[in-house]
Amino acid sequence: MIYRWWHRIIRKRTKPIPVDQAVLWKRRLSIAYGIFAWNAIGIVMYNVVKGKADWAHYYGIKSDEEHDMPPARAFANTLGIKNAKVYRISGFTKVDEYEIVDGEELRQKSEMFSLFRGKSSCVNLTKMFYLVGLGLGDVKDITVRGLEIVKKCDKVLLESYTSILTVGKEELEKFYERPLILADRELCESNIDELLKEAKDKHIALLVVGDPLGATTHTDMLLRAKELHVETQIVHNASIMNAVGCCGLQLYNFGETVSIPYWTDNWKPDSFYEKIEANYSRNLHTLCLLDIKVKEPTEESLTKKIRQYMDPKFMSVKEAASQLVQIIENKSDTELSKQSIAVGLSRVGNPDQKIAVKSLEEMEQLDLGPPLHSLVIPAPNLHPVELDYLAQFR
Ligand SMILES: C[S@@+](CC[C@H](N)C(=O)[O-])C[C@H]1O[C@@H](n2cnc3c(N)ncnc32)[C@H](O)[C@@H]1O
Repeated sequence: MIYRWWHRIIRKRTKPIPVDQAVLWKRRLSIAYGIFAWNAIGIVMYNVVKGKADWAHYYGIKSDEEHDMPPARAFANTLGIKNAKVYRISGFTKVDEYEIVDGEELRQKSEMFSLFRGKSSCVNLTKMFYLVGLGLGDVKDITVRGLEIVKKCDKVLLESYTSILTVGKEELEKFYERPLILADRELCESNIDELLKEAKDKHIALLVVGDPLGATTHTDMLLRAKELHVETQIVHNASIMNAVGCCGLQLYNFGETVSIPYWTDNWKPDSFYEKIEANYSRNLHTLCLLDIKVKEPTEESLTKKIRQYMDPKFMSVKEAASQLVQIIENKSDTELSKQSIAVGLSRVGNPDQKIAVKSLEEMEQLDLGPPLHSLVIPAPNLHPVELDYLAQFR
């Protein structure tokens, strides 16, 4: 009926053309349709192979949660059905059964265990705030569990002020196939409550270079999460605190770790030196972590409404040695001297990591290349194996 009506309209509104011309055009159109269909199939196949079959998820229009939603829940959502009983059938067998209550999947505990058996460990119905360690060197240093979490989370942030990974954010995004949000000090310290509250309804991960609890202060974040009744999980990784062992000094023989801050013209704190001396007098090594300044407001802008930020800077072994030598020169009764041995380390965990053993005054002239750097002041009496190992870096 519709076909006949449509035929009549076309006839009325168009002029007939000769049959041979019509045949020619029919052939041309068939070839064009053929080429179009062939290319369309090719594009679809290419996207499937590249993992872009669900293009809305791939381009971030659809969240991970929507992407992972079973079809029954997705249909119920689309049709606005809040409560339903779902049976999943494969062949002639019922393989799953659960209820949807207020749009949420409801299962008995025993069902949950059988459902998640053999699946990734991070799939969890309780929303979670994850602290994930990235290790020290390569993008691939993340653990398998850490990567599973990064892939599953609704939102992933990269903590960017206590340490850096030499590869940078873009490399990480490429490897994880998802965007990352940079989390600066302001977000992690002043605005942390908002982020944690968001983790009540979403899986959120904060990625931390090294170990999330290695030489960093993320424990305050965990305490705050507890106060706000937000569930947390930590995924540990290698830290400079243990990787420093690469220089051959035994981890058991390290004393308190210190941080050396950048001096300014009128602020030259040296309280860390007492701790180095205390370790030294007890025949213990000292790991000195060196200052990092990322997104630090300039002194002049501190009193102004609009903040201006300094260029990022990372203290080098050379700068740290120079500050230490100045402290030693100003002290009359100290066991350490400019000739005391120090170990400089840069980019530990990277293929181009460097280790150098020199006196503090020689270290003042030493360039160990791009950041990050650490300095170790070894104990005065070393174990023979420590001495042998250090000898290769002299
Ligand atoms: C606040 S700590 C952060 C530690 C990090 N969360 C971890 O577990 O390794 C940052 C300092 O550690 C030292 N550091 C971190 N990674 C390093 C690396 N790969 N090589 C040398 N020093 C490193 C640097 O002195 C840097 O300024």
